[in-house]
Amino acid sequence: MRICVIGTGYVGLVGSSVFADWGNEVIGVDNNPEKIKMIESGVMPIFEPGLRELVAKGISSGNLRFTDSLKAGINDAEIIFICVGTPMGEDGSADLKYIYQVADEIALEMKTPKIISIKSTVPVGTNKKIREYIKNKTSVEFDSVSVPEFLREGSSIEDMNQTDRTVIGSNSPEAIEKVSRLFEHLNSPIVKCDLESAELIKYASNSFLATKISFINEIAQICDLSGADVSKVAQGMGLDSRIGPKFLNASIGYGGSCFPKDVQALYKTSSDLGYHFNILESVIKTNKDQKHYFIEKIKKVYGEGLKGKTVACLGLAFKNDTDDIRESVAIEVVRILRDMGAEIKAFDPEAMPNSKKVLGDSGITYCATKEDAVTNSDFLVILTEWREFKELQDSVLISVKDKNIFDGRNLLDRTKLGNLGINYYCIGKK
Ligand code: UDX
Ligand code: UDX
Repeated sequence: MRICVIGTGYVGLVGSSVFADWGNEVIGVDNNPEKIKMIESGVMPIFEPGLRELVAKGISSGNLRFTDSLKAGINDAEIIFICVGTPMGEDGSADLKYIYQVADEIALEMKTPKIISIKSTVPVGTNKKIREYIKNKTSVEFDSVSVPEFLREGSSIEDMNQTDRTVIGSNSPEAIEKVSRLFEHLNSPIVKCDLESAELIKYASNSFLATKISFINEIAQICDLSGADVSKVAQGMGLDSRIGPKFLNASIGYGGSCFPKDVQALYKTSSDLGYHFNILESVIKTNKDQKHYFIEKIKKVYGEGLKGKTVACLGLAFKNDTDDIRESVAIEVVRILRDMGAEIKAFDPEAMPNSKKVLGDSGITYCATKEDAVTNSDFLVILTEWREFKELQDSVLISVKDKNIFDGRNLLDRTKLGNLGINYYCIGKK
């Protein structure tokens, strides 16, 4: 099938290269010409495991091309996927300015009938509104389809190839069938529905996962108060197939480009529709409070000020296997520790260039290795769940001067640290 993907960010670049890998003719469009040049020369604007190789494979097979011209991109396409960002607006709702910008251009440049599919996360009702908006600007026929994405950064290529399900919403049965053909080879369920249900499935899914995280984070606080161990509680809960083991890792809270904005946007949409979404209000509050719960653990040992203390901070990305720091709780915690007077020695395997842009250099040294950050620091704080942080050598751990480790991701082994004479503070495990 001939596909145009508009936006070469986390979703669009992965989407275009995977569609090409599935044997489609794909053209990726971005209004940022620098980005297009970078991608064409083999330099990825984002870190995502396997992406560089997949883009190179697509380009050399002839299935994948890129352009900064939307007109050239959509000309031959049968299906257009819109993958531009929908960031959080000032009032908590999704900011749709990029979607409208692209809709304007499509309406202007579209010469033959198309399927227009919004993959970006948009509030329920948006596809219909965009459909009317484009219809008022062109006489060319088109179908509207909602195909929300469920990709996790860090494993998005795998997530697309081994998806639990594909959701395709439209008021046109023919368009649903045509788009379905793209995904049928995956042998996973395809949920076919109306536009509004497809839009809401995305928000409900992300909000439910965020609820799971806030729930386990509250259970972790009960564990701290009662002496229970949250990892055992999560294991015991997760073995119940009705609950499932995933997304029950207690933490400093969820971040990233999706959960914070999507939960907030569903809360706002609900209130615009006249419904007060009680559970989501609590999920948002619990998540905001969770990093302070972690900071309180540090304050209990050190008091309010950290002047004169050098703190090793491992992790800056919002999660492992990404360089993305959008809404990263790790970055927020680093800011708080720095404001408390600490000198920070930071390390993240991929997110340091992005972090420097927002944190600057004042009070922070960006270290070349995790060992450089930890060695001879006063205490250690773990903020992102990178697997390699589990592999710190004993000699590095015992060089931490105050013998205190605060683990915001429950990565390390308390017994082992105890044997090294180190005090271990984590989330929900005595
Ligand atoms: C996506 C989604 O689309 C968002 O709704 C979802 O919830 C999270 O993932 P993401 O891929 O992370 O967004 O966005 P981003 O990395 O910001 O990339 C968007 C791309 O679109 C950028 O490269 C930008 O240059 C491009 N763009 C933006 C256009 O090509 N045209 C525009 O008019 C606006
Ligand atoms: C999410 C969704 O999972 C994906 O389906 C989607 O559509 C885009 O948004 P992503 O934001 O890439 O993906 O990351 P995800 O793996 O969901 O993690 C989100 C946040 O929750 C991270 O900050 C992570 O550290 C945190 N998290 C995750 C926890 O704190 N505990 C967990 O058990 C799982």
